[in-house]
Amino acid sequence: MIKLERGNRVDSLAKKWAGEKAAEYIQDGMTIGLGTGSTVYWTILKLGELISQGLQIKAIPSSVETERLAKKAGIPLTTFSEVNMLDLSIDGADEVDAMFNLIKGGGGALVREKFIDTFTRKFIVVVDESKLVSKLGSFPLPVEIIPFGWKVTCRSLAELGCTPVLRKRNDERFISDNGNYIVDCHFTGIDAPASLHSRLKQLLGVVETGLFIDVTDLVIVGKPDGVEVVS
Ligand code: 5RP
Repeated sequence: MIKLERGNRVDSLAKKWAGEKAAEYIQDGMTIGLGTGSTVYWTILKLGELISQGLQIKAIPSSVETERLAKKAGIPLTTFSEVNMLDLSIDGADEVDAMFNLIKGGGGALVREKFIDTFTRKFIVVVDESKLVSKLGSFPLPVEIIPFGWKVTCRSLAELGCTPVLRKRNDERFISDNGNYIVDCHFTGIDAPASLHSRLKQLLGVVETGLFIDVTDLVIVGKPDGVEVVS
């Protein structure tokens, strides 16, 4: 696979193509939701270029990381205090199944991502083809939980049939942009994503899950030789 150097990260050219293709759907005057991650990174860069050429849009970022990047790219930002419904959101994913159900949250931004990917008229997912799966669940499902009582919440998660692992970064507990913990829930495949999401949401301490059901309109898949748009 062709690799691209970006800072200290190495990404596939397929992600760049998918991310840039999504920018073609952005029109003058729109309010856009910007996802988080190394694929939507390319959308943000492209959007910065389009803005420097005169495109006028506003955007809501889904993480502190994306906010920083968007500001650097010169993208005017807004918030859900000003906007009820976005025109278009573009975001990456960790897994996409044939029904367009997603696992998200690999970067820990799943709560804000769920806002921008839900409260939008159109949601485009940008991925490389390694993210396409026949069944969700090989990627551990990220679940954001509040720190208070986290061990109790982890026990409740385990009772639903997974092995919960508290996410760490540099040996420290990972803290989300909302001040919460992320638990990566290892399932041996997820047969019924919608019902699992509902059961997880009922557990005390759970803020949100990385299961994104019935929100995706279009998937742009980057491949070694180009992009495929699937709707
Ligand atoms: C962050 C996410 C990302 O969209 C997901 O992890 C995919 O990232 P990448 O495009 O870097 O592979 O959900 O919380």
